[in-house]
Amino acid sequence: MNQIIRPRRLRNGLTLRKMMRETRMSPDSLILPVFIREGENIKEEISSLPGQYHYSPDRVGEIAEEALRSGVKSLLLFGLPAHKDDCGSESFNPDGALQQGIRALKERYPELYVVTDICMCEYTSHGHCGILSGREVDNDKTLPFLQKIALSHVEAGADMVAPSDMMDGRIGAIREALDQNGFENTPILSYAVKYASAFYGPFRDAAGSAPAFGDRKGYQMDCHNVREALKEALLDIEEGADALMVKPALSYLDVIRAVKEQTTLPLAAYSVSGEYAMIKAAAAQNLIDEYNVMCESAVSIYRAGADILISYYAKELAEAMKKGDIG
Ligand code: PBG
Repeated sequence: MNQIIRPRRLRNGLTLRKMMRETRMSPDSLILPVFIREGENIKEEISSLPGQYHYSPDRVGEIAEEALRSGVKSLLLFGLPAHKDDCGSESFNPDGALQQGIRALKERYPELYVVTDICMCEYTSHGHCGILSGREVDNDKTLPFLQKIALSHVEAGADMVAPSDMMDGRIGAIREALDQNGFENTPILSYAVKYASAFYGPFRDAAGSAPAFGDRKGYQMDCHNVREALKEALLDIEEGADALMVKPALSYLDVIRAVKEQTTLPLAAYSVSGEYAMIKAAAAQNLIDEYNVMCESAVSIYRAGADILISYYAKELAEAMKKGDIG
């Protein structure tokens, strides 16, 4: 045997393998999604997302505390109102559950970085992400509502807003509303590339936001497309997005890579509820090793090109990174 080149040389021992890692990550890049439900004294496990909870605004500090202790410095907040209506009025109520939660968090944990999801589907009685005209979501009628929602979040203290509604022109509209009200330094993380995905199933149970009729394919993207992802990303950059997101993550690693290569903005990937729930369900049946599958999945998302990971496993991933198991 005349083997000059032996790839195995660099796999010999943990220290060397860690030195040779091509993908580096740190807890600084993790964001944990959190659900804030209207009411008091609520901490209730979400049946579709084992290990995740609904918190009322008075108790949401508990998860912030846990996140910060693990090294996760940022939360992505969703609000769940007690009452829904046609135009999702609770979404821009300055005293809504989410707005109360933001204020409570920023008061107690000023160092916590608070990102909020901007969408209407958790707030509308019909479960669609905007205002309806007939049975269609009316793009242009929805934009002023998104502006009001974003403003109500930043006025409550949100550090960054993340529009997930997929209306055309929303980034420009929200940017304008923020700028006109003195929030020109508040960044927008655009869910630029959001697919109409069956992987959101557990989230919709958690948020009670499944559409009452039809689906979201008229506004979210078709999973067959990647050039369209670039079109969406480039449009949002033109409209003033500060960072981009691809969602879901695991079935869209090629999309993450494509957007990373063709844009210059920081890129987030959202490993969504279905990705988390699948790992949990398989692990509960002893079919896979939860910790190692969680680690490997997260690494794949960074390796594909994500700079930031939004994950229901954020706390556990932060611990894994601190231990050096990944990153
Ligand atoms: C709101 C929104 C959804 C998710 C994030 N923001 C649901 C949807 O579009 O139906 C999904 C997140 C997840 O599945 O973890 N529109």
